[in-house]
Amino acid sequence: MTKLDKSVLREFESIVGSNHALQEPDLTAGYTTDWTGRFAGESPMVLRPADASQLAELVKVAASAGISIVPQGGNTGLVGGSVPLDQEILISTLRLDQCEPVDVLAQQVTVGAGATLTKTQTHASRQGLDVGVDLAARDSCTIGGMIATNAGGINVVRYGAMREQVLGIEAVLSDGSIISHLEGLEKDNTGYNFPGLLAGSEGTLGIITKARLRLHPQLTERCSAMIAFNSADDAVAATAQLRRSLPSLHAVEVIFKEAMHLVSQHIGASIPIGADAHAWLVVEVAASTDPTEELAKAIDGLGSLPLDVAVGTDTAARANLWRYREKITEAISTRGTPHKLDVTLGASRLAEFVNEVPALISQIDEGATAVMFGHLGDGNVHVNILGAMGSEPNDKVDDAVLHYVAHLGGSISAEHGIGTAKKEFLHLNRSESELAAFRAIKSALDPNGILNPNVLLPTESL
Ligand code: FAD
Ligand code: MLT
Ligand code: ZN
Repeated sequence: MTKLDKSVLREFESIVGSNHALQEPDLTAGYTTDWTGRFAGESPMVLRPADASQLAELVKVAASAGISIVPQGGNTGLVGGSVPLDQEILISTLRLDQCEPVDVLAQQVTVGAGATLTKTQTHASRQGLDVGVDLAARDSCTIGGMIATNAGGINVVRYGAMREQVLGIEAVLSDGSIISHLEGLEKDNTGYNFPGLLAGSEGTLGIITKARLRLHPQLTERCSAMIAFNSADDAVAATAQLRRSLPSLHAVEVIFKEAMHLVSQHIGASIPIGADAHAWLVVEVAASTDPTEELAKAIDGLGSLPLDVAVGTDTAARANLWRYREKITEAISTRGTPHKLDVTLGASRLAEFVNEVPALISQIDEGATAVMFGHLGDGNVHVNILGAMGSEPNDKVDDAVLHYVAHLGGSISAEHGIGTAKKEFLHLNRSESELAAFRAIKSALDPNGILNPNVLLPTESL
């Protein structure tokens, strides 16, 4: 444990109070290991400020003492960006969880960065409104973390990712100053756009303390379907057709074979349809009037592409289909520590990628397997690599898959971000000029490099 000057630690403690300045390893443990268990570190102090002004005071003290900071929300991130890897202090935003009254006229709400997605969804739903982004970590992930990672989730096909939901932001910069622009004007061309800049910045440019979010009418009439296919090519072709023919399309998710077998074992339920299939789509339509007919017609229009179809109209039947998709991440973790690769491909290269990856991986590491699933409507495939018998796979596997993605013109990070896990691969998608511009932005806003120094930018560029 770093010997930070005791007087600095006392200063931190006096700002948040001793109950919210944690030092004992059993109290800090939940903050210092990431969700996957792959990334872990130590922190001399975990600080839990009550509001933006306490948080700003902490940053001022850290800045003048030259101490680095890792901001953390729900610690559900999957790229190792939310944990202290080099003895940084950790600032948790979990107490900044206030939801202000919903602005029904504007269909917007201002919430604290530490509010969980579920809390924000529940709050908005009382006014018949909904948050545009939804994901399985909803009970723990926070609005601040979702903005910092530009989270995607299951409804990007309809509403876009987190960046598209943020109209205004309040944040603490690296010198402890606070920027706040929360008016939520739909049109506001008064210079640089801080929400856009902070979305996806992974805690490297500022610590988000509040956000003004765009909300959407809550669509209560819903219908879900699971559709089984013989091949990835058929699932991709069907996805394109559903996107063209279904105005109420809310989600198009995919589960490939390994993932379906794994999740069905994990939840102790048989594969609902197409036991020998290679790919399953989980499709959801949502509208203000019953969209079941529209979905049925669109599935008919797929002709002979599907092997089999199951439809869920009531809440229980829909939840039964969705659990095969939402429980995959948990199922994978029961088999060891995965290397989580999260990629996007253009529609024309998707099936080729999915078909080639298993052979590519086993050439390098015989015992490694790829568990693939994701958000097919956005071209986003989650490639989870598991090593033999619970061990971690060889790093060369990550290297080969990510080079292959780049070769096919895809992105090495669709929605999880770069974190520490992918930073040495960033050059595959970003040119030297782009990385130089990244470094210039970082050093303008964080000249001493104290904000989340181990993520996003490749080591050699710092
Ligand atoms: P954390 O994990 O705490 O932090 C993530 C990053 O954001 C870190 O770099 C951290 O430093 C930074 N950060 C956190 N709060 C702030 C702040 N206030 N200001 C500045 N920086 C901050 N992700 C998707 O995109 N789509 C999915 O469908 C999806 N599904 C998931 C399902 C499961 C079961 C799990 C475990 C994770 C899933 N994730 C998904 C990943 C994760 O939930 C998201 O990345 C989420 O946005 C992280 O939010 P968090 O509050 O937990 O952030
Ligand atoms: C998901 O879509 O379920 C997630 O992004 C989580 C994961 O990749 O494991
Ligand atoms: Zn995802």
